[in-house]
Amino acid sequence: MASDGRSHGAAPQMRGPSTHPVVVDVDIWQVPLIARRSWIERNVAVLSDGERRRAARRIIPRDGDRFAISHIALRLLLSRYCDVPPAALSLVTDEFGKPRLSGDQACRDDAGPLQFSLSHAADAALVAVTRKSAVGVDVERVRPWADVSGGGLAPFFCPRELAALRNLPPDALADALTRCWVRKEAVAKALGTGMIRRSLASFEIDVSARDHDGALMWAGPPESTPTLRDLPMSSGYLAAVAAIGSLRRVVNRRATVRELTARCAAREPRARGR
Ligand SMILES: CC(C)(COP(=O)(O)OP(=O)(O)OC[C@H]1O[C@@H](n2cnc3c(N)ncnc32)[C@H](O)[C@@H]1OP(=O)(O)O)[C@@H](O)C(=O)NCCC(=O)NCCS
Repeated sequence: MASDGRSHGAAPQMRGPSTHPVVVDVDIWQVPLIARRSWIERNVAVLSDGERRRAARRIIPRDGDRFAISHIALRLLLSRYCDVPPAALSLVTDEFGKPRLSGDQACRDDAGPLQFSLSHAADAALVAVTRKSAVGVDVERVRPWADVSGGGLAPFFCPRELAALRNLPPDALADALTRCWVRKEAVAKALGTGMIRRSLASFEIDVSARDHDGALMWAGPPESTPTLRDLPMSSGYLAAVAAIGSLRRVVNRRATVRELTARCAAREPRARGR
């Protein structure tokens, strides 16, 4: 075990910011996870048995509702992009838990396979949708973090990131740490691994940057170089999006769950007719 608490050997050599030839445009949907019970009951049928079971497993009923709302919203949104009814979407997960659309549903036009990422925290969900490249999004509520000086954060941050965080004045810490966390998680989700050490050790975030937009320090293979952008969020939340490739256009949209169902209902006949 290294002195920073990581189980890997020598620290990776960061090659510095680099660009990637693939240009990536992303739509970001911000969906408040607020819905009437009657809306949930009307729409829960679009979820798969597995999604319904996962919602039911939540100990706190409100968490189960939020899980269900976020997954209904995800299906409603993806349905718009690939023109398949929400309940008919086939979502599969890989060995790391990253979900994707089954091949034929993801590739319904020449623009490239539809890729997405979902994140939910408290009352907020974000869905990132793109073609061409893997994408990751993360949203978190800004909250105090218990232990910056001890070893608790070491598995998740590089030594330089930790040093920068530990130098911050206490009143700046909650914001800076949450910001750094969402950036790291967005990249880890774009890479598809989630927050595992091997993946987290391959890149480094500039903790001091207020608005991150662009390349990062990267020690992984050139063909999977990520870029990262902070996202505007409602007060009390922070969020970031990352993609494998060079992020270009990021369009931020907001929709309530009622708006999503209304738009989906308007499109339904066309989707069914295909
Ligand atoms: C995956 C992970 C990043 C989720 O983070 P989180 O802050 O708890 O939750 P978020 O709301 O931001 O994201 C959750 C969503 O990320 C997606 N997701 C799950 N695993 C993912 C992965 N490896 N890569 C990209 N996206 C992933 C799913 O859509 C998930 O939604 P769901 O749980 O409602 O189905 C985090 O749990 C993690 O890093 N886990 C470690 C890897 C791991 O243990 N994988 C499981 C192996 S089976």
